[in-house]
Formats: sequence, structure tokens, C-alpha cells
Amino acid sequence: MAYFMIKGGNVLAGSVKVKGAKNSMLPIMAAAILSSENREVVLENIPDILDMHMKKSILQSLGLKVSYGENTLCLNACEVNSHTIPTALMREMRSSIFLMGPILARLGKVRVTYPGGCSIGPRPIDLHLKGLEALGANIWEEKGYIVASTSGLKGAEIHLDYPSVGATENLMMAAVLAHGTTFIHNAAKEPEIIDLQNFLNAMGANVRGAGTENVRIRGVEALGSCRYRIIPDRIVAGTYLMAGAITGGRLTVRDIIPSHLDAVVAKIKEAGVVIEAGEDSLSVINGRLKGVETLRTLPYPGFPTDLQSPMMALLARAEGRSNIIESVFEARFKHVKELNRMNACIAVDGRTAMLEGGAALQGAEVSATDLRAGAAMVLAGLAAQGITIVREIRHIERGYENFDVELKKLGADIIRCEEGLSIKSGV
Ligand code: UD1
Repeated sequence: MAYFMIKGGNVLAGSVKVKGAKNSMLPIMAAAILSSENREVVLENIPDILDMHMKKSILQSLGLKVSYGENTLCLNACEVNSHTIPTALMREMRSSIFLMGPILARLGKVRVTYPGGCSIGPRPIDLHLKGLEALGANIWEEKGYIVASTSGLKGAEIHLDYPSVGATENLMMAAVLAHGTTFIHNAAKEPEIIDLQNFLNAMGANVRGAGTENVRIRGVEALGSCRYRIIPDRIVAGTYLMAGAITGGRLTVRDIIPSHLDAVVAKIKEAGVVIEAGEDSLSVINGRLKGVETLRTLPYPGFPTDLQSPMMALLARAEGRSNIIESVFEARFKHVKELNRMNACIAVDGRTAMLEGGAALQGAEVSATDLRAGAAMVLAGLAAQGITIVREIRHIERGYENFDVELKKLGADIIRCEEGLSIKSGV
């Protein structure tokens, strides 16, 4: 098992380029199933991360031809022939649930097990299933599988009880080949939803309204191939900004869309950090860290839940008190225990974490309990006194391309080790 060993205290400086968003790439890879043309869908700006490889394996198991190289994915779904996602692969990734919509639309039947992914509390899929039923799918459980079938999806009016990102995407993909028009009300407004709309339209779909709470999808007969560039990863960008801020460094994050990070930048600034915006970059110019009265995670354009844990690491280092309210997911505070091992002072009451900042973080042996919590532990390690070992880094590698290599280029003292290497061998 690999782990990161970090010697804290180095001030990060320089610049880092951010690649395509994992959370755009995953639904867009699923949407490639909708192309019946015998030509490749080409996706550019694809990060070399574990989730991409996992999704690639799932698509190959369905009969797609998929190849990857130089941050480009080529997918041909002309011969997609299986409607069953292998259980082992499904359990690895929650986002496999997105496959229900496009497989159903393309083959009229789909069979999946309950999805896996990050362990961040109960993650029901009721909104996905209700929406697919509204579009005309029959759904039942059979020997541990969820099975959906249809003799033809039909446009429908769908009101989501919550603006779920995954449900909005799944239903958009199911509706593009449906007969008639679908309206999704109370849709999620994340930039990744707009990216999916743009991709579907590039394939020949007719989708409007993504980025607002009402998405309209006019069904079309068939979709074809296209070449498409994925938007930059705002969560990876935010993580690097926080890495700069936590070390008191001066660091520029490039190739991004700064407006996607408005809520994040506002909170980092509130924590005393100076940030400058360029056309496609953001720069952290250190500052004296101070606590923020309240940080609440919300659907976009609010503060993203995916940056709650890295921000907590930052605030654990800040002078004064902070309160963090996690309103998107239940049980997304597993990193609190790990941060407290590093001398942070954080108490949790339900969905609120209360931080008493100011204490110096101390190196310790900690775990990446999920993808973003893992990034938070790395950030804490960069700022801590002494050596931090972060275990279970496969979680981090699901979503960050060459995290250790990029941080090292910025001046961090971090190495990726395989089990068995002695801590005393130095960092
Ligand atoms: C996506 C992102 C994830 C991010 C999250 C919220 C991907 C691959 N993952 O996850 O990184 O943290 O959005 O921004 O894009 N819910 C239900 N019923 C449902 C679906 C969701 O109750 O059928 C609840 C969830 O339990 C959760 C909330 O809705 O409490 C938000 O979930 P959702 O927006 O669906 O997140 P994901 O699409 O899973």
C-alpha cells in the first residue's frame, strides 16, 4: 500500500496547471455511450487519475472501445452490447449510477448494483430512480441488482426534491434520446452540468438551461461523435490555492475558470489571505490566517462540499474560532479525527464542526478517509511541524493527478512511498 511522507514547514511558491474536472469527465464519459455513430468521441484535457481508469474499465466491459493517452480519451460506443455493469466495478464508484440513464436510453435495459465511491455518509439514489420512472422506465430489484427497462423513454416534467448533481446529469442523459420534451425543475446548477449540456449538444442533442434551475431537453433521434474539451477542475484548483495559503506561500493556479471559484475565493479571503485573479488564473499571496465565523457548504454557487475538508485544514491553522456547517452530505467529517491527531482542536456537533484555531499542527500518522479528506491531510502535513504520514492515498489518487509531484515542484517536501520503506530514510 502506498502512502505519502511529508516533512512540513516548506513555503510553497510557483505555479501549477489544472487539468479537466473529474466531475465533468465522469458523466461525459458515460454520455459517450449515447453515440451510435461508428466514429470516435474524443475527449481532451482528461486527467490521468484512478477514477478515469476505473470508468474506462467499466465502459470497456459494456462493449465500448476506449483508449487513453496524452490526456485524451477516445471512445467508440458503436458496439455497446451489455446492459450490466459488473458488480466489482460498480462498487468502486458512485458515479457509475450515471450510467443508468445513457444505457437505458441506448439499449432499453440496464442492470446495476448499488453504487460505491467515497464513504461520506448515506448517499441515496431515490431521485435518480424517481426521475427515470417519470421518463417511462420500469424499475425493480432482482437478486441484489437494480434493473430498469423501457420500451421507449418519453419526455416528462420532473421536479427534483433536491438539486442533486448526479440525478440532474443522469436524467439529462436519459432524456436526450426520449420521445418528446423533458423539463428538469430544481436542477443542480454546477458548472459540470453546463459542461455536460455542451457536450451533449456537440453530439447533436437539444439541451437548454443548464446552469439554471430549469433544464429543458428536446429528444432527438440519434447522437453522433464529436471532439470536446472538458472544463478545468475547480476543486483541484481550490485545493492548490489552499495549499499555497496554508504554507503562507505565493502560488498561482493556471488554466482555470476563476469565476467557478467565486465562493471559495471569498472564503479564503475572509480567512485573511490575499488572492489576485487573472483571466484564467488565481494567485494566493499569503496573508495572516484568521478564523471565519461561519462556512456553510451548499449546492453551487455556494461553497462546495468537496472543499470543506481542505478548508478545514486551513482554518485549523488560522488564529481564532471558525464554524463549518456541512449541509450537503451527512457524515462528511471523518477528517476531523485525523486533523485532531495532528493537534488541531475541532469538535463536532451534528453537521457543525467548531474549530479553535491557532495551535501549531504536529506531524502524525493519519489516513485519507476519502478523496477530499485525503487532500486535507496532505495540506495539514505541509503546514505541520515534523513528519506526517498519509495512508490510504489511493483515495487521493482517484481525483488528483500526480499530487505529490506537483506539490514537490512547488517546493513541498513530500514523497510517495510503498509499504516497507523506513520513515528514517528521510523525506
Ligand atoms: C456530486 C459530485 C461530488 C460532490 C457532490 C455535491 C460527481 C462525480 N460527484 O456527487 O464530488 O460532492 O456532487 O456537489 O460529480 N441525494 C439524495 N437522493 C438522490 C441523490 C442525492 O438524497 O437520489 C442527496 C445526497 O445524499 C446528498 C445530496 O443529495 O446529501 C447531494 O448529492 P448529489 O448532488 O447527488 O451528489 P453526487 O452527484 O453524488
